[in-house]
Amino acid sequence: MLRTDNHSIVLDVNHLMADQLGHNYGISPEEIDAYRQPAAMAQMAIQKNRGKGFLGWTELPYNQDEIVEEILVTAATIRERFDYFVVLGIGGSALGSIAVHQALNHLHYNQLPKEKRNGPKLFVEDNIDPERMAALLDVIEPKKTCFNVISKSGETAETMSQYLIIEDLLKKTVGSRWHEHIVATTDRETGNLIRLGLEHSLKLFYIPAGVGGRFSGLCPVGLLPAAVCGIDIQQLLAGARAMDERCQSQQIWENPALLQAVIQHILMDNGINIHVMMPYADSLKYMADWFCQLWAESLGKNVTRKGMAINVGQTPMKALGVTDQHSQLQLYTEGPYDKVVTFLHVGQFRNETPIPSENKEYPVLEFLGGKSLNQLIEAEYLGTQYALLRSGRMSQTIHLPVVNAHTVGQFMYFFEKVTAYVGELLDINAFNQPGVEESKIASYAVLGNTEEKYQKKQEEMLAAPKGKKQYRI
Ligand code: PA5
Repeated sequence: MLRTDNHSIVLDVNHLMADQLGHNYGISPEEIDAYRQPAAMAQMAIQKNRGKGFLGWTELPYNQDEIVEEILVTAATIRERFDYFVVLGIGGSALGSIAVHQALNHLHYNQLPKEKRNGPKLFVEDNIDPERMAALLDVIEPKKTCFNVISKSGETAETMSQYLIIEDLLKKTVGSRWHEHIVATTDRETGNLIRLGLEHSLKLFYIPAGVGGRFSGLCPVGLLPAAVCGIDIQQLLAGARAMDERCQSQQIWENPALLQAVIQHILMDNGINIHVMMPYADSLKYMADWFCQLWAESLGKNVTRKGMAINVGQTPMKALGVTDQHSQLQLYTEGPYDKVVTFLHVGQFRNETPIPSENKEYPVLEFLGGKSLNQLIEAEYLGTQYALLRSGRMSQTIHLPVVNAHTVGQFMYFFEKVTAYVGELLDINAFNQPGVEESKIASYAVLGNTEEKYQKKQEEMLAAPKGKKQYRI
């Protein structure tokens, strides 16, 4: 599936294959081909149900023309009026924005002077650590800040608490026009956020039906913060479309997402329970975080769709090349045979950084001088890939010719499709998150919410083991 055009991302699975790795490890083409039928069925199921139910996200590259226009107009107003843009959201309501911003904006965006930035300073506050909220309030000026409160459910305790804090802050600092400082992105019908939004005439964007949190990066959840910072959201969607077009075939070797899904299913079956995503580019650092959530929440499930116990999932991990060569690589090359490493490799960086060749006195420095950091990072990627190969450890590479809105759109849509296909192959619901909901309900119960479902949870929690003194030392 090597692409010949110069802006398509490429999935290179050579270093997963038995004939490349050596006889004991790796996957054979026969193993992959044995999936011909289930893979075709998985592709067909997703294709047939496009846009329906939980698959609303599949159509996002195609059905957002009007909303994109509205986002662009709103983003332009925000850029003109505000110096700070703060996203309040968690999980799927934050990770896409963080990843896209890191990928496509200057790596020290907020530190740039205003005239060199494409928009206001951006903060994505995806935690409720009290110190972090206090720290945020130390560095923004409420009068010059627009807050984008994002919650699909409109119920999440973290985000709704943040909302209450900033509503109060804005009322005290801005006065009666406080509501002009808040954009709410939420479900059109359910939850508290939509009710608050309508009551207070907040600017509203809707999360389309069938777009769950972790699949929402390419709808207003991710598109508004991206557009506010000057990212070309039309190119993001064009990239997603281009990937979708490559995923139309039921033939495994003609559909990159299907090939990847089959491979990951085989690996899970073979006990490869850890999936390390290791970008060799700081710009893609948070794409690994985004992937981790998508993979973990979608595929970590205890029952099949028919209710049979299954307890599946592959633990996603993030690592950064080259930084984590100096912290984790030892484990990857010599530890248990339980991992697959996915490298994200960039063909051309946005900067060329030469290493000066002044110093002739020291052999190492003389050797490095005259080369570039671009050459060095490439050599280290190839070196790490080889070290894994030599130790019989599996890796694969996703090659991005450049990091731009188009390739990022391709990448995100690719992994969303892979996730959906793996869900089909495993016969699980890849779009719910009962484990997360359990913790949300338990937290409200701990806080003493008197609604019936929380009361019941409180009783259940009171009956749980209290822990023994001797286990605390
Ligand atoms: O992927 C998911 O569904 C979750 O991570 C949610 O995005 C997260 O729990 C936040 O939920 P909400 O957007 O409803 O506030």
